[in-house]
Amino acid sequence: PQTYHILVLPGDHVGPEVMKEAVKVFETIEQKRPNINFKLTHDIAGGCSMDKHGTPITDEVLRIGKEDVDAILFGSVGGPEWGHSYPNPESSLLRLRAHIGAFANIRPATFYSKSLISRSPLKPEIVSDVNFVVLRENCGGAYYGEKVEKEDYAMDPWGYSTPEIERCARVAGALARKMGKDGLGLGNSPPATVWSADKANVLANSRLWRKVVSRVFEQEFPDVELKHQLADSLSMLLMTDPARFNGVIVTDNTFGDMLSDQAGGVVGTLGVLPSASLCGIPGEGTKCNGIYEPVHGSAPDISGKGIVNPVAEILSAALLLRYSLGLNEEAVMIEKAVEKVLDAQEIGGLGLRSGDLGGSANTVQIGDAVCRVLGDMLDGASGASG
Ligand code: NAD
Ligand code: IPM
Ligand code: MN
Repeated sequence: PQTYHILVLPGDHVGPEVMKEAVKVFETIEQKRPNINFKLTHDIAGGCSMDKHGTPITDEVLRIGKEDVDAILFGSVGGPEWGHSYPNPESSLLRLRAHIGAFANIRPATFYSKSLISRSPLKPEIVSDVNFVVLRENCGGAYYGEKVEKEDYAMDPWGYSTPEIERCARVAGALARKMGKDGLGLGNSPPATVWSADKANVLANSRLWRKVVSRVFEQEFPDVELKHQLADSLSMLLMTDPARFNGVIVTDNTFGDMLSDQAGGVVGTLGVLPSASLCGIPGEGTKCNGIYEPVHGSAPDISGKGIVNPVAEILSAALLLRYSLGLNEEAVMIEKAVEKVLDAQEIGGLGLRSGDLGGSANTVQIGDAVCRVLGDMLDGASGASG
């Protein structure tokens, strides 16, 4: 069989709870597909690593992530017990992203099940067609560089170079072609629109951003419609008219962090939003190392109760199969299995939803249900329909 090597870093608080369910998904695929073998290396990062090793992430974990594995599945890090002063649990993630060079952070926002539309705080007619991807620059901007942190003065240098912007713009263009206007990624419709979000009216690095993105699209993606939108008004329009941004929203690290959490508000919960941080342009069948993690954090307010929604982590595992392992067929099946499980409540009142989606199912029940439906699909059976 083909062996795929994955580094598993669950992190803190709900991280290990959701990771357990994602690992079960790998096991289900392995059981049903004798030609696929997952070699999982389990290690630690975040507050748990600070407690054990005195550092948020060890050099050895960074090395394994870069040199030994095909991809990294990450949970979430941080919590009140460690605070925010540096070095904090969160810095493990920043170091890992930079070490791997995972500059392209893809954060899709859509309804993985139509039955979730009613969970959005927005009116169904406004939100039902939402299907956009936030492409967040992940290795630069205010997050990196020499910080100044004194008693009474602090500064984060918010800088970008032309090559950093160019490579991000190229991923945006490629994603727009792949996604297509129909958003189905079937490759037979014209490219989706790309919205570049910046603050070119205020920030110098945003003016460079806008200039470089424009040039890349003129020269390399003449077939892709590029629009610019100031990040503050984009944020407002995301509430009043989110489907307007169907396609790709490409933006810098800080704006992308904010807008991707806002996408959780549009959809109704962070509990279903996955992400992929890639080192290059994604293409099915093309291997490319990456870090896969939910958009959400360690949710200390609900950790330890077994009630966190594991869907974002499970869908992150699906993105891992698609982008880093070239196992698109299995990735699609995971997404379909999640859809079926979320729909189950609607269809049969099975209650397979967590509290953030108005249900009462616990984390393990949801993971088990996804694996059961996925197992049936892999068997070639028609799957459970409630
Ligand atoms: P959060 O994303 O952890 O939680 C925000 C809210 O959403 C909370 O009410 C939480 O209960 C809820 N929520 C999040 N994920 C959920 C899920 N899967 N199911 C159900 N409800 C869910 O954001 P926060 O509270 O601002 O941050 C908590 C900690 O997580 C902080 O230390 C922060 O730095 C860290 N963080 C880590 C990551 C990461 O590791 N990738 C990402 C974001 C935040
Ligand atoms: C995210 C998180 C991280 C970020 C933190 C935990 C470093 O909020 O992945 O969205 O700001 O990038
Ligand atoms: Mn965030």
